[in-house]
Amino acid sequence: MHTVIAVLPGDGIGPEVIRQAVRVLDAVAERFGHSFSYIEALIGGAAVDATGDPIPKPTLDVCRNSSAILLGAVGGPQWDNIKVTARPEQGLLRLRRELGLYANVRPVMVHPSLIDHAPLRPELLADVDMVVVRELTRGIYFGEKTEGTNHASDTCSYTAAEVERITRFACDIAVSRGGRITSVDKANVLATSRLWRATVEGIVRTEYPQIELDHLLVDAAAMHLIQDPSRFDVLLTENMFGDILSDESSVLAGSMGMLPSASIGADGAGLFEPIHGSAPDLAGQNIANPYASILSAAMLLELSLGLERESRIVYASVDAAIARGARTPDLVSEGGVVATTREVGDAVVESISRCNESAGYQPLQRSL
Ligand code: NAD
Ligand code: IPM
Ligand code: MN
Repeated sequence: MHTVIAVLPGDGIGPEVIRQAVRVLDAVAERFGHSFSYIEALIGGAAVDATGDPIPKPTLDVCRNSSAILLGAVGGPQWDNIKVTARPEQGLLRLRRELGLYANVRPVMVHPSLIDHAPLRPELLADVDMVVVRELTRGIYFGEKTEGTNHASDTCSYTAAEVERITRFACDIAVSRGGRITSVDKANVLATSRLWRATVEGIVRTEYPQIELDHLLVDAAAMHLIQDPSRFDVLLTENMFGDILSDESSVLAGSMGMLPSASIGADGAGLFEPIHGSAPDLAGQNIANPYASILSAAMLLELSLGLERESRIVYASVDAAIARGARTPDLVSEGGVVATTREVGDAVVESISRCNESAGYQPLQRSL
């Protein structure tokens, strides 16, 4: 089988972490006899500098003609004051929207050897196994906007159909893992949240009556995530709440550099990217954590290419590498041994060739 993967490294640490994810995919291809080829394309600030457009048409074409898309991160202070439509972040938003990638899946896995590193007490983290399902192409990100010097506005809008499709997506994940759904909204204040809550309730009650469902207001959810994270299984929410709560969830995993994501639409290629940004403070130093990107590649293998066993090998290899101490500075406590971005990649690649799939912790396999 020959597979074409679009690779969009983007800005800041994006190219550094994506390089390691591609090395891991190559190691998987070598072990299992697959043939992957990569077409690199511009997005974000790199694309603005080269073409004036944060998502040039050739990039969209490459993405549309590939089996899957692997993306690093976009943005940085050097593009913060350019006109809004040319901002790097607009490139990512347009890519998600134009490919119809409405479902963003962000599994929150706490690797056993990082439990002591995370700032929360180990007993709060031991049973954490959750998936954030975030609606990705509607809500306040994409509603009508005005922007003037004395007044600005953003509109949050959802139709019932848009809430229904993301609810069904979350329900299918909940069923596959025998799990529960917690739907998060702000129904005490927002009209869109009241529509959200009624729609989620309707779909679950009529189409998935076996799923246990509860609702939380987003402010309380932010508190529960830190106070009692293992109460969550599938956390279903709208676009902006999901953005914020998933960054918060990364604290459970020990670092922003640990959480991968998959963005899926009704058809076409899936988009796989770490949840973190371009981390301008770390860029160019070979110290960024590449695990979130490597785990995004594992999600790509499973969800876009249907290579479940290969995906499990990547999880097991990541776990083995972390356990053996391959840790970038964000994963090391005072005085510990620090590995570079590339050395973490080396450790995972080395494990791929000999890792036994049943040997390691396989968080996503449990999660999805
Ligand atoms: P960020 O996620 O880039 O960084 C937040 C913090 O987490 C920083 O302290 C950073 O050092 C740390 N961090 C992030 N990734 C890490 C990694 N792999 N290893 C170790 N530490 C890591 O968020 P920010 O600083 O608010 O934003 C920087 C830029 O990135 C902005 O332009 C923003 O718009 C953009 N951004 C892009 C994406 C994306 O492309 N998907 C996501 C978030 C932010
Ligand atoms: C993310 C990012 C993006 C978002 C930005 C860069 C547009 O924060 O992927 O979580 O808000 O969705
Ligand atoms: Mn975000």
